[in-house]
Amino acid sequence: MTDAKLTVHTDAVVGHVDPEIHGHFAEHLGRCIYDGIWRSDGDNETGRREGVFELLADLEVPVLRWPGGCFADDYHWEDGVGPREERPRRRNLFWAQGPEERPEESNAFGTDEFLRFCEAIGTEPYLAANVGSGDPREAADWVEYCNYGGDTALADRRRENGREDPYGVRYWGLGNENWGCGGRMSPEQYAREYRRFATYVGTQSNQMLDHDLELIACGYERHEWNRRFLEEVGNSPWGPEFPLDHLTFHHYYGRTMSVSEADEDDFDAFLADALVMSEHLETIAGAIDAVATTRDIGVIVDEWGAWHPEAVAGNGLEQPGTVLDALSAAAVLDIFNRHSDVVTMTNIAQTVNVLQCLVETDGDDAWARPTYRVYDAYAPHKDNEAIRTTIDTPTRERSDGDDLPLVRGSASTDGEGAFVSVTNLDCRDSRAVEVAVEGKPIESAEARVLFADHDPKATVTADNAGEFASESLDVEVDGSTVSMELPPATVATVDLS
Ligand code: AHR
Repeated sequence: MTDAKLTVHTDAVVGHVDPEIHGHFAEHLGRCIYDGIWRSDGDNETGRREGVFELLADLEVPVLRWPGGCFADDYHWEDGVGPREERPRRRNLFWAQGPEERPEESNAFGTDEFLRFCEAIGTEPYLAANVGSGDPREAADWVEYCNYGGDTALADRRRENGREDPYGVRYWGLGNENWGCGGRMSPEQYAREYRRFATYVGTQSNQMLDHDLELIACGYERHEWNRRFLEEVGNSPWGPEFPLDHLTFHHYYGRTMSVSEADEDDFDAFLADALVMSEHLETIAGAIDAVATTRDIGVIVDEWGAWHPEAVAGNGLEQPGTVLDALSAAAVLDIFNRHSDVVTMTNIAQTVNVLQCLVETDGDDAWARPTYRVYDAYAPHKDNEAIRTTIDTPTRERSDGDDLPLVRGSASTDGEGAFVSVTNLDCRDSRAVEVAVEGKPIESAEARVLFADHDPKATVTADNAGEFASESLDVEVDGSTVSMELPPATVATVDLS
């Protein structure tokens, strides 16, 4: 008997799955940069940590946002360029309560280190400029330092720092959470600031030779803020004009669910909270359509993921890496696929050691968390066309909120076969799932499953990391249908041709 049916509507393309949808975020917070991406002792040539480097390079991370987060709106980029021994130490205003030994920012890892790291792992950089405590000149100078190939003092400074060619940074965020740690601004106030910054940063676009810039404005999970921001930012003396390519919001979930104390009802509430991503995307896209009628603006979710009570400023926002978190990531990546007509990028928080990181380190060891396995398994979706899916799924009734749909998924195509991901969010029972591809007989199906032998609370360590790798999954093909049995709390992918 089938519990759930996922239908792939082969001819209904939703949109392109921008590879940037699998992007990451790295902030100067706890052990993300120092002892995460970068060696604190810093006495080697590049400073990079090999294990982390290899894991991220293997994953082909498409884009990495840096330097924050709240840190971005108090970061002055000039502190982090030039000879390392001459760089000033500063307080890390927002994350000074991190691990005891690191209340201050050494600035050892700055613009050149970050951009070289991105080049080395083959990722696009996304720089978040300081709007909260900075000014438009500082932001525009940063663009010039990074991207200008001519004969100016800032371009020469980059050359003196060892980099002849411009880096060609395309993505520029103007501020972070400017409704909160980025200056506590009203939407109208941020819109006016944003326009000023966009004028000086954006004007550089045509001076940067072939380096087109894409400007990213900060939005909010409370969508009334976004509507008011868009109305004001578009209100130029020349009539509606929207100087932004993308509008962002952040969605963290699980704030009340302590991993160690949670029971199965809590798992359901946590997963339902993750699925709210879908409503957020629809609401923000609706605001853009209603207000910014003269410009095609994409949606970026540049911070998202599980944030449990275990992660506090005092421990550098570290929390255990569980199967449950990975399950939520799979369901959210499916949501991004299903909204690929509006989503242009997302950045899970954060890439190493912090919050729902993909990679964890301890001393010289670095290993993949269960969420890393999900990104790896979902990689074939990148650059495909997402196809519309409908899912007939059982739900579990919840006393304190919306019912939880127990089976989720998405599908995409590279023009030939179909790649389907299916998640059993039911942490109690197995589910028999049928995938039906409309109007297309299936010739071959290769399926894999993640976490079949693990409890949702299972936590990864350096010693057991290998046990979380995917295994092959038995499926039955009948005409244009493929059937499978998904154990509780598992993620499956099926490659169909
Ligand atoms: O990712 C941790 C913090 O969460 C970021 O600094 C901030 O933008 C968000 O509130």
